Amino acid sequence: MTALLEVRGLQVAYGHIEAVQGIDFKVEDGEICTLVGANGAGKSTTLLALSGLVRPKAGSIRLAGEELTRLAPHQIVERGLVQVAEGRAILTTLTVRENLELGAYRRKDRADVPRDLDRVLGLFPRLRERIDAMAGNLSGGEQQMLAIGRALLAKPRLLLLDEPSMGLAPIIVRDIFAILREINRDGLTIFLVEQNVRQALKVASHGYVIESGRIVLADSAPNMLNDPKVLAAYMGG
Ligand SMILES: Nc1ncnc2c1ncn2[C@@H]1O[C@H](COP(=O)(O)OP(=O)(O)O)[C@@H](O)[C@H]1O
Ligand SMILES: [Mg+2]
Repeated sequence: MTALLEVRGLQVAYGHIEAVQGIDFKVEDGEICTLVGANGAGKSTTLLALSGLVRPKAGSIRLAGEELTRLAPHQIVERGLVQVAEGRAILTTLTVRENLELGAYRRKDRADVPRDLDRVLGLFPRLRERIDAMAGNLSGGEQQMLAIGRALLAKPRLLLLDEPSMGLAPIIVRDIFAILREINRDGLTIFLVEQNVRQALKVASHGYVIESGRIVLADSAPNMLNDPKVLAAYMGG
């Protein structure tokens, strides 16, 4: 069986900066897979390459067997690879509802959008309460929920998240990760990029560690949580 996402030999450079130096990884259908690493390791660059937002120097990215590297960003979204970008990137002068509806705007199955909107608001009751509020007036946690909700309305097959825990209080991070688990249980495959190594490995089934543009460790998430090397290097002992 082929993996839902299979990446081979991916290299990305910004001028002379070799941000991603030939990495291999895969995401199996139905799992939560995580890519963890320190600031500057190459995590966001990897996600940007998956979404077609930076052009790789080399390598292949296959979603359900189909090569994505020559597709435009909107074509990649149409194939079901949808990203929640680092820093959330919601539109602060639009309402919560308008932001959510934007997530669905490329969909051809318009008739299903109201039902999916209702489902997302079921996952995030706080967004339902604030449906007509300006997105810029939401708290950081609510904005992250909105960014995830908007991505879900694009009907992903594979959801990519770039550090959803960034800048949020631990209690909010726990809420958000619990929701990711729930979305995954409902059948959505997730590729989660995080610096919050412990929380990410707790929800994931497989993990990869990236350091200076290279994958230095790949294992099941439970093994990694118990690996003294991982504990020492990424979880402060
Ligand atoms: N637009 C850019 N131009 C030049 N260098 C960049 C750019 N974006 C990232 N980098 C560099 O690429 C490397 C990887 O960055 P990034 O992928 O953002 O790491 P991470 O998301 O793991 O923090 C870093 O050395 C960073 O400084
Ligand atoms: Mg990053």
